[in-house]
Amino acid sequence: MNFINANGASIPALGFGTFRMEGADTERMVSHVLQHGYRHIDTAQIYGNEAAVGQGIRASGVARADVFLTTKVWVANYSRDAFLASVDESLAKLKTDYVDLLLLHWPNIAVSLEEQIASLNAVAKSGKARHIGVSNFNTALMQEAARLSQQPLANNQVEYHPYLDQRPVIATAKELGMSLTAYYGMADGKVLADPVLQEIASAHRRSVAQIVLRWIIQQGFVTLSKTVSEARAAENAAIFDFDLSNEDMAMIQKLAQPDGRIVSPDGLAPEWDTAA
Ligand SMILES: NC(=O)c1ccc[n+]([C@@H]2O[C@H](COP(=O)([O-])OP(=O)(O)OC[C@H]3O[C@@H](n4cnc5c(N)ncnc54)[C@H](OP(=O)(O)O)[C@@H]3O)[C@@H](O)[C@H]2O)c1
Repeated sequence: MNFINANGASIPALGFGTFRMEGADTERMVSHVLQHGYRHIDTAQIYGNEAAVGQGIRASGVARADVFLTTKVWVANYSRDAFLASVDESLAKLKTDYVDLLLLHWPNIAVSLEEQIASLNAVAKSGKARHIGVSNFNTALMQEAARLSQQPLANNQVEYHPYLDQRPVIATAKELGMSLTAYYGMADGKVLADPVLQEIASAHRRSVAQIVLRWIIQQGFVTLSKTVSEARAAENAAIFDFDLSNEDMAMIQKLAQPDGRIVSPDGLAPEWDTAA
C-alpha cells in the first residue's frame, strides 16, 4: 500500500468508502476489504453506519493500529458541546479510543469557523483524533481554516474525478502542505461509459475503474472507492502495479467539463472555485 504524507499524517492512498451502505453490507465489506489488504476506511456520522464499521474492523482480525480510520463530524454538531459529545458517540459506535483523521464534513456558517476549528483541535489534543482536516472546503475556507488551526490540517476531502477540474483546490492544498482525498472518483458511475477512458483501459488491459483510481493516486492524492461487491473491491485495489503515461494523464485531464460537479447540496455547498 502506498502512503500519502501531509502535515504529519501518513494516509494509505486507497481508502474504502462507506457512503450509501447499509449496516449489514458495511460490516461484511469492511471486514472483507481489511482482510484483503485495504488499510483505510472512510465513514461519517451522517452515514449512520459507524457502529457497523466498528463491527467490521473488529471482525476483520486486523489490529486497530494497522487501520487508518476517518470519520466526519456532521454540521448539526458544530457548536462546541455538541461537537465534543458527537465525537465521543462516534468513538463509542466505532469501538475505538481514537480516529486517525477527523474531518468537518461540510462548511457551515451557523457556528463560526473559529469555534469549529477550536473543537477539532480540542479533540486532537485529547488524543481522540490523531489528525484533523476538512471536507468540501473551497480555497478561501482552506486558507482561513489553516490560519485558525493550532495543529496543521492534514487533509481536505473533495469531489474529484475526470469530469471536474479541481486545480485551484489542488494548488491551495499544496501551498498549505495538506493532502487531498478524492471522493466520487468514478463520478458516481458516469466514467464507466466514457470512450476515451475505455480506450486507455483497453490499452493497459485494465478496467475503467482502475484507470480512474490510478489517475488520482498518480497525482499524489488519496482516493476513496466504495462497493458492495467483493470482486469490485479487489479490482479497485489492483492499481499499484502499473503506470499511466504522461499522455494518458493529459488525455484524462482534458475530460473536465464546466458543469462536471455532481455533489453540491443547497444549504451546505460553499461558493466553489472555478478553474481558470
Ligand atoms: N466528504 C463527502 O462529502 C463525501 C461525499 C461523497 C462520498 N464520500 C466518500 O467517498 C466514497 C466514495 O464515493 P462513492 O463510492 O459513493 O462514489 P464513486 O467512487 O464514484 O462510486 C460510485 C459507484 O461505483 C460503483 N463501483 C465501485 N467500484 C466499481 C467498479 N470497479 N466497477 C464498476 N462500478 C464500481 C459502486 O457501486 P456498487 O457498490 O454497486 O459496486 C459505487 O456505488 C464514499 O463511500 C464516501 O466514503 C464523501
